[in-house]
Parts: sequence; structure tokens; C-alpha cells
Amino acid sequence: MAPEMAEVDALIRRRLSSQVALINQISHYIVSAGGKRIRPTLVLLFSQALGFHGPERFELAATVEFIHTATLLHDDVVDESELRRGRDTANARFGNAASVLVGDFLYSRAFQMMVSVNRMRVLEVLADATNVIAEGEVLQLMNMHDPDLAVDDYLRVIRFKTAKLFEASARLGALLADAPAEIEAACADYGRALGTAFQLIDDLLDYEGATTALGKNVGDDLREGKPTLPLLAAMARGTPAQRDLVRAAIVNGEIERLPEVIAIVRETGALDATRAVARGEIERARQCLTVLPDSAHHEALLYLCAQSIERSA
Ligand code: IPE
Ligand code: IPE
Ligand code: MG
Ligand code: MG
Repeated sequence: MAPEMAEVDALIRRRLSSQVALINQISHYIVSAGGKRIRPTLVLLFSQALGFHGPERFELAATVEFIHTATLLHDDVVDESELRRGRDTANARFGNAASVLVGDFLYSRAFQMMVSVNRMRVLEVLADATNVIAEGEVLQLMNMHDPDLAVDDYLRVIRFKTAKLFEASARLGALLADAPAEIEAACADYGRALGTAFQLIDDLLDYEGATTALGKNVGDDLREGKPTLPLLAAMARGTPAQRDLVRAAIVNGEIERLPEVIAIVRETGALDATRAVARGEIERARQCLTVLPDSAHHEALLYLCAQSIERSA
């Protein structure tokens, strides 16, 4: 996909331009730091797997990356994070106000771009997705410091805040190709399952990963008292003493307990349990792909499944 992704990157740069210097500065700062560009890759892979090769695929690929980037700008303010893509976060460098406002710029630029494709269903899919992402982030805010969060409620948050944009990206590929409804639904299901697995692994890497590889600080979730599956599973499986320690760490956001918490999520098998849930999602994602004809794009979508579990960055 390298040549196509280079086109997406060039388009992203063109669409970033603004009359306002600070917008250019901050948006280029975060976009040029890289990122895996998974969501635009999904738009391209699904549209091409289904036989669509028109320029609209680049416009929508860039659109979903803009929406993603806007959520990152906002998320890092809300999470008070200091490292993203191996650099200071925009909020650390330019302040919260500028980050939130440039996030709004990217969101609304994404709206301009999606309208340019001139298809009502595209607008519907992206309007729904952005709305659900916002709901997910607010739900998550309500769950902060709650050690009694049910696993189903945790899963709901990650389906909303993360899987929804993966789902929309995959669905847009199918929509561009005018795929029949059942194929569009299978593509959307793939995106939803992959996105869920992706966030599960993100939550796992906050305990198991390395800051240098991730380009973001491990332990951010604990500092915030985010009740993610590694912690919920550790409390369900641990001894009473282990459970009490994790519980207190969530309630108080005790980042200084990170080494003990990491030992507990390992020893109790909570990391393995989290990975197992992610594997289940990936199995579902693989099944969805059986509706696609054989092609290099189909292979790449299978590769993304394996990669999303094995990743360390
Ligand atoms: C980060 O997404 C936010 C999550 C949904 C975990 P990515 O891991 O796709 O971020 P970049 O774009 O590659 O930096
Ligand atoms: C993902 O949640 C953020 C969005 C989907 C908006 P996280 O808070 O876990 O993402 P990171 O770890 O900061 O990238
Ligand atoms: Mg965050
Ligand atoms: Mg995270």
C-alpha cells in the first residue's frame, strides 16, 4: 500500500492548510510525528478489495485520519498525557486551549472533506461515528476511578471510543465500492472487531509495553484511575491483598504503585486474559473477511489481524 499511503499523506498535508499560523503549526506538529495510519489503510484496503479505485478513497482516508487526530488532541488534554508519537503532546507543548481548538479545526475540516465526496450515506456513517466516539469518551470519564466497573461496561466504552471509527473506516470502503448490504455489514463488523482488539491491546500495553516503542508513557491509565480490562481481570483473579492494592490504585490513581500493579497483572494472568479477549475479537474479524474475493488487499486485511495482537507499538 506504500504508493497509495503516500498519496493519502500528500492529501493530508494539502488539506491541513489554514490562514491561521498556529493551526498550521500545531496540526503539522502532530501529523508529521507519524502514527500508524491504520484507519485510512482500512478505507483503502476495503475499497480496493471490492474493486473501487477512484480518488474519493483518498479523500475519505484522509478524512478518517483527521477525525482520529482530532480525537487524539482532545484525548491527550482530557488524559493529561505528555507523550504522543514519541514527542511532547500538543497540550504539553502548546497548552490545553490551543490543543482543543485545533482539534475542533481538524474535526470541522474533516466535515468539509466528507461533504466533498457528495454522498449522503458517507455523511450518515461519519456523523454517527463521531457522535458515538464523543459518547464513548464521556462514558469513560464517568467511569474514572471506579474499580467496580463491569467488564461489559468497559467493553462498551472501547467499542464506542475506538472501534466505531475502525468500523466506519471499513464501511466507507464498502460504500465507495457500492457493495451489497450484506458485504458492507461484514466489512463494518470486521472494523468493529479489529478496533475492539486494538484498544484491548492498547490497554494491555499500558502495563506490558515500553514507553520508547509506544511513543507514549506507560502507566498513564493507572495515573488516571482508568479501570481497563488488565486491572478488572487482576481484581477478579487475584488474592484479597492483590485485589485491595489494585482497587486502591484505581480509586486514588496511584502511579507510584505501577511496579506492583504490573507484577500483579502479570502474576494473576490478567494480561493473558486480556490478550485472549482480543484474540476472540480477531477471530471474529477474520471470519468477516470470507465475503471478500481473494486478493492482495484481502491478504493485507488478514495480516492486520495478526499484527494487531502481536504489536508492541
Ligand atoms: C491511539 O490510536 C488511540 C487508540 C485508539 C488506542 P493509534 O494507536 O492508532 O495511534 P497512532 O495514530 O498510530 O499514533
Ligand atoms: C483512545 O483511548 C482515545 C480515543 C479513541 C479517542 P486512550 O486514551 O487509551 O488512547 P491513548 O492510549 O491515549 O492513545
Ligand atoms: Mg489517552
Ligand atoms: Mg491507551
